Amino acid sequence: MSEPKMDQRIGQGRENWASQVGFVLAAAGSAIGLGNIWRFPYLTGTNGGAAFVVIYLAAIIFFGYPIMITEMTIGRKTQRNAYGAFAALSPGTNWWLVGALGVLTGFVILSYYSVVGGWGVAYLFKTLVGMLPKGTDFAGAFVGHITATWEPIFWHAVFMGVTTAIIAAGVVKGIQRWSEILMPMLAMSLIILVLRSVTLPGAMAGISFYLKPDFSNVTAKTVLDALSQAFFSLSLGMGCMITYGSYVSAEEDLTKSALYVVSMDTMAALFAGLAILPAVFALGFEPGAGAGLTFITLPAVFAEMPLGGFFGVVFFFLLCIAALTSAISLLEVVVAYLVDEKGWNRQRAAILTGTACFLFGLPTTLGYGALSHITFLGMDLLDTYDWITNSICLPLGALLTAIFAAYYWGTKNVAEEANRGSTGMAVGAWWAFLIRYVVPVAIAIIMLSGIYQRIAG
Ligand code: PHE
Repeated sequence: MSEPKMDQRIGQGRENWASQVGFVLAAAGSAIGLGNIWRFPYLTGTNGGAAFVVIYLAAIIFFGYPIMITEMTIGRKTQRNAYGAFAALSPGTNWWLVGALGVLTGFVILSYYSVVGGWGVAYLFKTLVGMLPKGTDFAGAFVGHITATWEPIFWHAVFMGVTTAIIAAGVVKGIQRWSEILMPMLAMSLIILVLRSVTLPGAMAGISFYLKPDFSNVTAKTVLDALSQAFFSLSLGMGCMITYGSYVSAEEDLTKSALYVVSMDTMAALFAGLAILPAVFALGFEPGAGAGLTFITLPAVFAEMPLGGFFGVVFFFLLCIAALTSAISLLEVVVAYLVDEKGWNRQRAAILTGTACFLFGLPTTLGYGALSHITFLGMDLLDTYDWITNSICLPLGALLTAIFAAYYWGTKNVAEEANRGSTGMAVGAWWAFLIRYVVPVAIAIIMLSGIYQRIAG
């Protein structure tokens, strides 16, 4: 390993987060997103409730936290984008492929993430102007929205445009500034919704579905869903936390920041479930609606609820903020690569990548209408993008990152860098044990069995 070459690079001309709080909020903004507000509650609903929640929490503790520390450490050590970080730590090898896979995965995730984000913005608009009153055919309204041609494309463009503008403004003036403004709003909206949901008459049935586990129906698919959800939700396995970690200064307590980010993300997911599932039960709806839970079941729930118009607006506002602070982190992974490795200026990189991503996402906006005849293993285009990235690329990226840290860079080197600036939460033997033995083996098994189940139908 060429230490001197790398040390020359450290800190050279690279923008740093202006404060630890700024970094934690930005990283939490990346983590807390559609994964928490849209995906986690519906996966809990379709996977039988509390048993899924328990498996998810185990995945966060045993896989998510150790990999979070590893990625942030790789980023801070090298002060480079995902690709450059692997290249700098292992010159003359092919490990850079892991970083390259991450950059590519980020690009693909953002392309469809922005489409769903666009649905969220459209629904915020519709609830604001009162277009979804009581008595609406909510399933019909949602299907009508996503099968249309121009409307979803318009909102996809709006969402990607805002994301691009924030990234073009820079790390501190764009990402950090907007995270500091939006994250407190997100927390407040979520608390308001939880208080409303759990105090509805009849909320108890939803609370016990959510909190009383029944493991009898757990399958390999449940476990893969929980694991890939943990990676997706924590923005792991694709170099995002390497990139955000690369803007952290050497004195900062990285392990503590990682713990804050993981805890905030987990709380947000648990709260989102608590905001949604009790209300769904209380008003007599089904929790297993799948991806439509947010856009079909919930508008119906709000229409039945006293002051539902207000709570509907709060919910979709929350969804939009959460999606936006995550989308910017996805775009940053690609932009940081182009800035570091290709010498592009940030504005140009942001605008060109944002546009390319918008175009690449177009097939998924049309996948329910004009292109609905195209399917892959029984999935529509958006589910296909989602499945390939979340069930294959993220677990694979996380697996290779763990192997890299454990067996190439070495647990001693990782721990030394991770613990620089640490004030107590130091990385030690437990982390090394997890990253060497538990994480790689378990990810490999879960990933292969989940892929097998999908292909075997
Ligand atoms: N963590 C984000 C969410 O939960 C999605 C994301 C994945 C963002 C990977 C960045 C990287 O919605």
